[in-house]
Amino acid sequence: MRGLAGKAVLITGAGRRRGLGEGIALRFVQEGAHVMIADLDRPQGDQFPEHGVPAQSEMDALVAYLNECGPGSAAAITCDVRQEEQVAAAVAATVSAFGGVDVLINNAGVGYLMSPIVDTDLADWDVVLGVNLTGTFLAAKHAGKQMIRQGRGGRIINISSQGGKSGFPHAGAYVSSKHGVIGFTRTAAIEFGPHDITVNAVCPNHVTTGLGSWQNDYFSELLGQTLEEYMDGMLSRIPLGRNGLPADIAGTCAFLASDDAAYISGDALNVSGGEETH
Ligand SMILES: NC(=O)c1ccc[n+]([C@@H]2O[C@H](COP(=O)([O-])OP(=O)(O)OC[C@H]3O[C@@H](n4cnc5c(N)ncnc54)[C@H](O)[C@@H]3O)[C@@H](O)[C@H]2O)c1
Repeated sequence: MRGLAGKAVLITGAGRRRGLGEGIALRFVQEGAHVMIADLDRPQGDQFPEHGVPAQSEMDALVAYLNECGPGSAAAITCDVRQEEQVAAAVAATVSAFGGVDVLINNAGVGYLMSPIVDTDLADWDVVLGVNLTGTFLAAKHAGKQMIRQGRGGRIINISSQGGKSGFPHAGAYVSSKHGVIGFTRTAAIEFGPHDITVNAVCPNHVTTGLGSWQNDYFSELLGQTLEEYMDGMLSRIPLGRNGLPADIAGTCAFLASDDAAYISGDALNVSGGEETH
C-alpha cells in the first residue's frame, strides 16, 4: 500500500487479542508503519469487565507478537480515552517513540452495556458515549493539533459501525455514539482539510471479535434463538454470504491511510459485505 512505510500510527483500544484493533495494527506493522497502541490495561468493575478490556499481560503479548511481524514496529501505552491528559500523553508518547503522528485510528469502543432505553442507567450511557464519542473527539483534538504542528498532512480514521447508520434494539447509547462519530467525522473533515488531513469513518457490520462474540450471545438470547439460528439469520442478510473479518476492516483503514485515498475525506464507508448500503 503506497505511503504507509515509516508512518507513525496511533490506534486507540487495540490492546485485545483478536480485536479489530489487533487486525488493524498488524496490517500497518506489515506495511512497515510504527504503531502505538493506547488502551486500558486492566478490567475495572462492571463497566469495564474482562470481556471488554485486556489485561496488561494480553497487551504485552500483543506488542511482542506485532514486533515479530515487522518490518514495522509496535509499542503500547495505558490510556483511558475519556481522560484528556491521558490522551495527550498517548499522542506525546507516539511522537517521542516514532517522531510524530501521521495516522490516528479511533478504535476504542464499548459495545456491551446493552439495555432497553427505559432501563438504561445514566452511568452506563455516559460510559458508552464517553469512550465511543468523547474519546474520538479527544484523540482527534490532540493528534490533529500534532499533525497541524508537523505540517505534513495526516489521516484520522474513526471506527464507527453499522450502528452509526441504523438502529438496533437495546443499543440506544451505542447507536447514538456511533451516529455521533459520523457527525463528528464530517465536521472534522472540514476543519482539518486545509491542513491536508483527511478524516473518515469506517462502518463495519458484524465481526466476531471478543466484543462481537459477546454481542452474538446477547442478541441470540434476546431474540430467543440458538446461537446457530442467530448467526444463520445474520448471514442471510449479507449479500457476500460471510461475516466480516478483522482483515477486512484493517484493509479499509490501510487504504484510507494510503496515498491512494488522498482525496477521500468526510466519508463514512460501509464495510459490511453489502448489508448496509446508505
Ligand atoms: N466487532 C464488531 O462486530 C464491530 C462492528 C462494528 C464496529 N465495531 C467497533 O470496532 C471497535 C473495536 O471493536 P472490537 O470488536 O475489536 O472490540 P474489542 O472489545 O476487542 O475492542 C475494544 C477496545 O476498546 C478498549 N476500550 C474500552 N474502553 C476504553 C477506554 N476508556 N480507553 C481506551 N480503550 C478503551 C477495550 O479495552 C478494547 O481493547 C469498537 O469501536 C467497536 O464499536 C466492532
